[in-house]
Amino acid sequence: MAKILGGITTSHIPAVGNAIQNELYDDPYWKPFFDGYPKVHAWIAEHKPDYCINIYNDHGLGFFLDQMPTFAIGAAHEYRNEDEGWGLPSLDPFPGAPELSWHIIESMVADEFDITSCQELAVDHGFVVPMQLFWPGAPHHPDMPRTVPISANTVQHPIPTLKRALAFGRALRKALLSFPEDAKIVVLGTGGLSHQLDGQRAGFINKEFDQYCLDNIVHNPDELTKISRLELVEKAGAQGTEFLMWMMMRGALGDDVTEITRNYHIPISNTAAGTLLLECAA
Ligand code: DHB
Ligand code: FE
Repeated sequence: MAKILGGITTSHIPAVGNAIQNELYDDPYWKPFFDGYPKVHAWIAEHKPDYCINIYNDHGLGFFLDQMPTFAIGAAHEYRNEDEGWGLPSLDPFPGAPELSWHIIESMVADEFDITSCQELAVDHGFVVPMQLFWPGAPHHPDMPRTVPISANTVQHPIPTLKRALAFGRALRKALLSFPEDAKIVVLGTGGLSHQLDGQRAGFINKEFDQYCLDNIVHNPDELTKISRLELVEKAGAQGTEFLMWMMMRGALGDDVTEITRNYHIPISNTAAGTLLLECAA
């Protein structure tokens, strides 16, 4: 049976893709951000996951406001990345794992989650920037896992509640643990932490709220389900709603987790950049 190794979260700011392209790892602006990743690289090198579940939000490449699934799961042989207009090079396609995708979709629907299944899906910076951060050279890293993208709507209201996001993750855990292959799986949650890109509050960041979320998500994620969606927008910013993906990831890990590393740095572009690696009990 499959095993869940752990979960990793990171912000997915497009400017990071440019910094990677230009190798700005030691640049004074970027260094405190990139310093958060060597421990993640070491953990990945030690555990070598076979599959990666990448929980992200699409920002208008795979879906747009006219067709916005609340929860979508990729079931393709590969996932294309395309130019979104950020000036980033388009990466080669990422290898999929359709047999795992369909297993997850079957299990989630049996658990009464209404899923949009996608046999074709273009993936944006929300998916690819974390892959580049965790597997440098992605998708051509020698240990590149096969992947299942899961997209949550954090863009077009009504968005899911934090409670639903955590419950989604818990159902995903059940799906993954019942996959009949001796496989090692890592779950990613991308986006966040606090940020707002538009309107009068553009540039808004809330360190206190981010720390509250970071502290509770490790051992007390249910506490965070008390936050309403309105409160999440108010406290984390309009795009801070991306914290929903962190909650989905957390639900998939079960109760017994160990924090391996975390990093928090303000700001990268308009965002409070957060990274967290949680390992599941054996
Ligand atoms: C930024 C952050 C995001 O999460 C995103 O999707 C796009 C841009 C930013 O801070 O620039
Ligand atoms: Fe985003």
